[in-house]
Amino acid sequence: MNLVINGQTYQVAKDPPRVLLWVLRDELGLTGTKFGCGAGYCGACTVHLDGVAVRSCQVPVSRVAGRAVTTIEGLARGEELHPVQRAFLEAQTPQCGWCMSGQMMTATALIAANPRPSEEEIIAAMDGNYCRCGAYARIRRAVARAAALARAATEAV
Ligand code: FES
Repeated sequence: MNLVINGQTYQVAKDPPRVLLWVLRDELGLTGTKFGCGAGYCGACTVHLDGVAVRSCQVPVSRVAGRAVTTIEGLARGEELHPVQRAFLEAQTPQCGWCMSGQMMTATALIAANPRPSEEEIIAAMDGNYCRCGAYARIRRAVARAAALARAATEAV
C-alpha cells in the first residue's frame, strides 16, 4: 500500500491493521508526531489528512492510502519555516514541547481555512489540543501572530 506523506511516496504493509500514528513514528521514522493519550483526546498526534487536521492515533492506516498526509516534518519549505513555526518560535511557546507539533498542525489547518481568525475562533479551534504545561496564552498569541505572518507572506507574492 502506498502512502503519500509530505509529498513523498512510502510503501507500507497493509496488514496488520494499525493506526497512522505508529506507522509514522515506528515504521517511517517521522517522530515529530507525538503520542499523548492514544485515545483521541489530547491532540498531540495531530497531522493533516487532505489538509484537514486529524488525530493520527485514531486513523486506521488503511484509510490513508491515496490521500495526502502532512506531518510537522512537512510544514517547512526547505530552510524556510512555515509562518506557524516562525510564530511559535518567536513567542517562545514551547515549555516541555511535547504537544507543540500537534498544536502547530491544528493552528496551520485553522489559518489555511480562516486567514483572519478572531480570538474566539482561535480559542475554539485550539480547544482540543492539550498543553499540560499550561502555555495556552502563549499558544493563542502565537496562532494570532502566525495568521498575521501568513497574510503578510500572501500579500507579498
Ligand atoms: Fe492522539 Fe492524544 S495521542 S489524541
